[in-house]
Amino acid sequence: MSKFIIVSNRLPIKIEKQQNQWIFSPTSGGLATGLKSVHENGKSLWIGWPGISSNEIDDKEYETLSKGLFEKKFKPISLSNEEIDDFYLGLSNKCIWPLFHYFKQHFQFDEQQWDAYVKVNQKFANAILEEIEEGDQVWVHDYQLLLVPEMIKSIRKDVTIGFFLHIPFPSFEIFRIFPKREELLKGMLGSDLIGFHTYDYKRHFLSSVRRILHLNVNFNLIQKGDREIVVNTFPMGIDYEKFEKTAYDHTKSEKESFSPLRIELEKHKELNQGKIILSIDRLDYTKGVINRVKSFELFLTQYPEYKEKVRMLMVLVPSRANVSHYKELKRETDEIIGRVNGNFATVNWTPIWYYYRSFDFDDLINLYRLSDVAMVTPLRDGMNLVAKEYLATRIQNDGVLILSELAGASKELHQSLIVNPFDITALSNTIHEALNMPLSEQVERNTELRERVKRYNIKFWSETFLKELDRISKRIPIHKTKRITPNTISKFEIQYALANKRLFLLDYDGTLVSFHKNHKKALPSPTVINLLKELNQDPKNKVIIISGRPPEFLDQIFKDLNLTMIAEHGHFEKEPQKEWIEKNASSSSWMNHIYPILQQFTDNTPGTFIEQKRNSLVWHFRKTDPELGVIKSQELKTVLSSMLSNDISLMEGDKIIEVTTSTTNKGIASYDHYAKEPYDFVLVAGDDVTDENMFTQLPDEVISIKVGNKKSVAKHSVVAPQELINLLNHFKK
Ligand code: UDP
Ligand code: G6P
Repeated sequence: MSKFIIVSNRLPIKIEKQQNQWIFSPTSGGLATGLKSVHENGKSLWIGWPGISSNEIDDKEYETLSKGLFEKKFKPISLSNEEIDDFYLGLSNKCIWPLFHYFKQHFQFDEQQWDAYVKVNQKFANAILEEIEEGDQVWVHDYQLLLVPEMIKSIRKDVTIGFFLHIPFPSFEIFRIFPKREELLKGMLGSDLIGFHTYDYKRHFLSSVRRILHLNVNFNLIQKGDREIVVNTFPMGIDYEKFEKTAYDHTKSEKESFSPLRIELEKHKELNQGKIILSIDRLDYTKGVINRVKSFELFLTQYPEYKEKVRMLMVLVPSRANVSHYKELKRETDEIIGRVNGNFATVNWTPIWYYYRSFDFDDLINLYRLSDVAMVTPLRDGMNLVAKEYLATRIQNDGVLILSELAGASKELHQSLIVNPFDITALSNTIHEALNMPLSEQVERNTELRERVKRYNIKFWSETFLKELDRISKRIPIHKTKRITPNTISKFEIQYALANKRLFLLDYDGTLVSFHKNHKKALPSPTVINLLKELNQDPKNKVIIISGRPPEFLDQIFKDLNLTMIAEHGHFEKEPQKEWIEKNASSSSWMNHIYPILQQFTDNTPGTFIEQKRNSLVWHFRKTDPELGVIKSQELKTVLSSMLSNDISLMEGDKIIEVTTSTTNKGIASYDHYAKEPYDFVLVAGDDVTDENMFTQLPDEVISIKVGNKKSVAKHSVVAPQELINLLNHFKK
């Protein structure tokens, strides 16, 4: 039975040595808590770092611990002090983390740390490759391992790989700052399915793929060579039932079993010491802790009647304490909390209860259950599970959630009090609103919110992701086109040698010559010219150049070759030694209507231009910003499609939109020639959508060749014009 491999930087348990004893404890953070139930419920192996440095542990002890972990379906990856410094604290948390959370001011790039990032990603990839068996699927997680998918795919093409990013993907303007941006994107694109929490992160990612890697993106599909990568949103949920059930159980449990925290909280309630505003985060500058305290300070100033009637309970879980910005934040937080408590405290009351530690699950439930308001106001957060966990424990549907619009969760939890975490005054007023919200309104809001959190729980999240991954792994390959091999070439040679009448139908741009930014400069080399000449000189052969280019251009390139030429997608033809003839001439008065529209699009899309041919108008967008090009071309298609008639049609090519008279196309033109003589060897080659017409119109026995990796109905493919030229060279005498 195949298994499922989860890969994340951290395992959900960490190992620490305390008084010569090994202590295992759960790790904090949404990724670990979220994936735990996925791991427990299936046949899976979880690969990750157990949080300890290999310098602190000798080989024998490590072996024993690894064995123990393996029995629990965990495979540990060991990291040395140096790797922890450079890969984990360094590149992951001083560079990618701040940049992806829009903290450009904290972003530090260092080449040595980058090298460590590559090396440790390779270490993870090697550990995964050692475990992969046929049929296994791999699910890689988060920003520490962005290069891993490609490292696996380059070795194991047969393995389906999913990737999920738990943090925001920033906008292109921020992402482009990262010096190794291409490498990061290419690393991620080793996956078959890439998931984000929200539509915005997905949109930003696709935009970077288009603009930085210049790949074609079609809705949520990225075309990379012969692979298609699916990108989608999967908002992460929580183990709702576990939170809700524990909250119920707590209402029934005996006093003797209460934890010290619960006793304290219950006492607070009994003595009617005021309402509790809860704040729980890892101590991270992205979480907006300082602004939250400032807003509470302002609230107490603006509404002094709440003194001694409300309390903020602040849990800050230690995190990445060796990174300087986290150390500074700790100092700043201590200072500001000290200031507020110093300024406002009375003999009976401290406004902020502050814990710098983590709590176990039971106490977490106590905190959620016994607080009146939860204030989740990060400055940026991929999702934020605390917000969802708070709701799950509100079994009476009471309580108020204040939620930052910059947390991914705000895209789902619309009925909470949504705030801008940078607006301290608004935050203070929202605290007032929350404390005064009538119970009926709390119940109304929370009923809907809890329904959402209940349905889109962690099971739903992982199942939809894995179902999609499964679908992708089973999908019938869309590319039936087979790469040309030495074997196929030998077969073609035999066919060629036995044939008496041979026909070559060759497209020009992207087939005989590569694309050039300036399309006037896309010219064939003298070797290509000589090859065509030689092929055409064989009396058994007929070589036809079939292109979208106008007659004048083809004349200029091939004038001395005595070839047959077809121009403008079949509108013009020229036999050797003869004049050009126009096929199915039709009125071109439609151009007067279409041209001004194309002109308008050209004016407001820098880098685009119009090419006018006798029977068609072409709008070229190769040279514009790729993102803008796609948007504008879609807009143009919509505008044009409302103007088409029986006489004119719209064709899409590689970075072009062509409006043309409908009387002919490359398919019709090529079939006309094919049908004229009893050919027993026919080779047709093209790279573009317009060439697909030839591949479909000509009969099956024809050798059809797609140049490039795009989807095609052709039977064979080569990667680039040069490979086609090499193939044609085999037919020279
Ligand atoms: N958490 C915990 N113990 C604590 C405080 C928090 O286990 O004392 C958990 C909390 O239940 C949540 C996770 O840590 O599941 C925090 O995830 P979130 O998505 O809110 O933020 P992240 O830390 O991933 O940025
Ligand atoms: C966030 C990240 C996780 C990370 C967690 C805790 O949730 O998305 O990848 O594991 O924070 O951070 P740490 O640096 O302690 O692993």
